[in-house]
Amino acid sequence: MAQARIIDGRATAERLRADLAVEVARLKSEHGLTPGLAVILVGDDGASQVYVRSKGEQSRAAGMHSVTHILPAGTSQTELLALVRHLNGDPAIHGILVQLPLPAGLDEKAIIQAIDPDKDVDGLHVINAGRLSQGVPCLAPCTPVGCMILLRETLGQDLSGKRAVVIGRSVLVGRPVAQLLLQADCTVTIAHSRTRDLASVCREADILVAAAGRAQMVKADWLKPGVTVIDVGTNPVPFRDPVKAAAGRTRLVGDVDYKAALDVAHAITPVPGGVGPMTVACLLVNTVMAAKRIAGLKA
Ligand code: GUN
Repeated sequence: MAQARIIDGRATAERLRADLAVEVARLKSEHGLTPGLAVILVGDDGASQVYVRSKGEQSRAAGMHSVTHILPAGTSQTELLALVRHLNGDPAIHGILVQLPLPAGLDEKAIIQAIDPDKDVDGLHVINAGRLSQGVPCLAPCTPVGCMILLRETLGQDLSGKRAVVIGRSVLVGRPVAQLLLQADCTVTIAHSRTRDLASVCREADILVAAAGRAQMVKADWLKPGVTVIDVGTNPVPFRDPVKAAAGRTRLVGDVDYKAALDVAHAITPVPGGVGPMTVACLLVNTVMAAKRIAGLKA
């Protein structure tokens, strides 16, 4: 069998951003509307700082209004809630994202539920989760939206009747991607850490979305020949090079044994360079969508 097609998330994300820049320019010139994104980072987690910087840079590059609020780790629940409420009422802001995880002591759920659901570009508010489960227009979480774009680009718009297996049931990825697959008329199974005989469940899949957070857990013999694999995992593992490993350096691998899967799958996302770049691009997509809806334009 031929080697799997490698699904290039970087290229797709770049195209999405270019299309968005055109749309943002049109919204400005035709409607005087500049989509605005506010990102809140509490504390000094290194990885979160990198993600937040990238969200700001990419939204500005697309011509959007972008503000980043960096708050000290000691910020109280009351202070954070006050900022979220202020942004809810700010007409220049159409999307609000609170970078997770929040430092210990802050109630993540309460903060997310304080965001105006129409500005919840992360799609994490229960109102948006409910809308998603009912198949009505909503803001859906960015990574699942990115997974669906990559799937449709690979398999065509019509995913109807395909057997989809999602490994993982998180609020951020597993559950919402399962809902989006269901909306696309796939037959969906959500597998998780308690699933019995996970390998044979996976072997049923025409589409496998791996979002378990366990390095290289999915082996090649878990895959049906011709499956399309979307690997959401980003697991740091030590370098094979003993010198780098001894220095404590890590590289990222997915939830799927990528090299072995290349011989079995029809198509697969690499890690890095697959789903990852799509997440921020889809955040921008969601922000433009939110801005249009808030302004009463067709989105
Ligand atoms: N931290 C890691 N991924 C995400 C995400 O998608 N949204 C937010 N808010 N925080 C994250």
